[in-house]
Amino acid sequence: MSHSAQHNQKNLYIKTWGCQMNVYDSHRIADVVKPLGYKLSDTPEGADMIVLNTCHIREKATEKVFSELGRLREYKEKREAETGRRALIGVAGCVAQAEGDIITQRAPYVDFVLGPQTYHLLPETIISLTGDRPEKRVINTDFPVENKFDHLPEEHDSQGAAAFLSIQEGCDKFCTFCVVPYTRGAEYSRTVQSILDEANKLVDNGAKEINVLGQNVNAFHGVGLDGGTADLPDLLYALSDINGLERIRYTTSHPRDMDDRLIQAHADLKKLMPFLHLPIQSGSDKILEAMNRKHTADHYRDILAKLKKARPDIAMSSDIIVGFPGESDQDFEDTMQIVRDSEYVSCYSFKYSPRPGTPAAAMQNLVREDVKTERLARLQALISEQQYDFNKTFLGKTIPVLFDRVGKDSGKSEGFIQGRSEYFHAVHVKGSERLVGQIVDVEVTETRPSSLSGNIVTGEFASDLKTAVG
Ligand code: SAH
Ligand code: SF4
Ligand code: F3S
Repeated sequence: MSHSAQHNQKNLYIKTWGCQMNVYDSHRIADVVKPLGYKLSDTPEGADMIVLNTCHIREKATEKVFSELGRLREYKEKREAETGRRALIGVAGCVAQAEGDIITQRAPYVDFVLGPQTYHLLPETIISLTGDRPEKRVINTDFPVENKFDHLPEEHDSQGAAAFLSIQEGCDKFCTFCVVPYTRGAEYSRTVQSILDEANKLVDNGAKEINVLGQNVNAFHGVGLDGGTADLPDLLYALSDINGLERIRYTTSHPRDMDDRLIQAHADLKKLMPFLHLPIQSGSDKILEAMNRKHTADHYRDILAKLKKARPDIAMSSDIIVGFPGESDQDFEDTMQIVRDSEYVSCYSFKYSPRPGTPAAAMQNLVREDVKTERLARLQALISEQQYDFNKTFLGKTIPVLFDRVGKDSGKSEGFIQGRSEYFHAVHVKGSERLVGQIVDVEVTETRPSSLSGNIVTGEFASDLKTAVG
């Protein structure tokens, strides 16, 4: 960082919607502009630059961006009137990619629009907006030939004890309801070497858990250390050798790419957590076909059976869409059945929302809104019941928890820290901040529908209880 940049510190605020890959991108956006003197702040107040890192997956996600932009306009005008300083407002992420033009029409005060593959160009963008002959606005939503991962800074700020690492981007699957192949572009996998370098840096910066990310993470096929092609199991075995890295997860997988070697990795690798997000979308073969998922419900059941054999304590999580065009009562019952059969302990469920430009948006046989609402409510009640039943099985058990933040417990925040179980439960205990960043044994004393709480039992740390209480 140059001397003058240090003196000229500016505040950056980033608001993030959408998937974990967007969360990763937001960290990287902060890393990219750090050399220009921008420091991440957790409030928009006083910000010199505000970036909305957006999601286009459902209609509501897009509308939220426009209402946020409305508020930011007031902030920008007020700040300029009061201090004479311009606040840069930018839109990044998947709405930027899909609706760059609409954004600048509806919100002409937006200074820049950068897609998910061009945010490494942010320094140049800022310079052209603020230089001697400033541009009024910069829009860059190309899919550049050179890859952003080759241009992101090697240095990055700590993500804390549990970190995200994008290893694969884009999607070639073209499910008929989904915008991702259009907003993120074609599948691309990073090299194993660059991933291992980044993983080692994250561990040096305090990460005990790494969640490797991709829109289609188990389709990963990057250049391996020997110059050949490496797949996800190859990468997982390599990551598992990193000293100090204790937990590995991967998100999000497609059933079609769940091959036997990947399943075997769950048997072999103790660091691979026994919790897997493997979206099914629907339990009806007719709907799965209309969605272009290219697998059946029974194919999915076979995968689960193999996973259970490899790792008997594995628990599953999923995504489900209700009310896809043509979904009958029976199709929906098939979905309820696969939720029971898969014993999902966590599941995101959504009403189908037509997205412009996707094949499903042109389909007939739309499901009525009230039917969607009713189906979603029934599905969510079943999921909550399964989730709570699963959580109750932890009562009285001692489990390892990775503490990653100072937290709250039922509204009480004094002296509480928060972490994650191997199954991704939020776990709250009374304990000192010193435990943040550590994996510590906890005896579960209370179970709730979506979290657990308990007491620290590990000898060395049990004394910390006194510190926290007293
Ligand atoms: N790559 C992941 C999903 C990414 S999108 C996969 O293949 O499963 C995250 C979730 O949003 C999807 O799993 C799906 O359940 C939901 N989703 C995507 N498009 C949607 C739409 N048009 N309407 C409702 N939900 C949608
Ligand atoms: Fe979207 Fe399907 Fe690709 Fe997942 S696999 S990102 S749902 S197109
Ligand atoms: Fe949303 Fe884009 Fe992720 S549409 S879910 S932010 S890939």
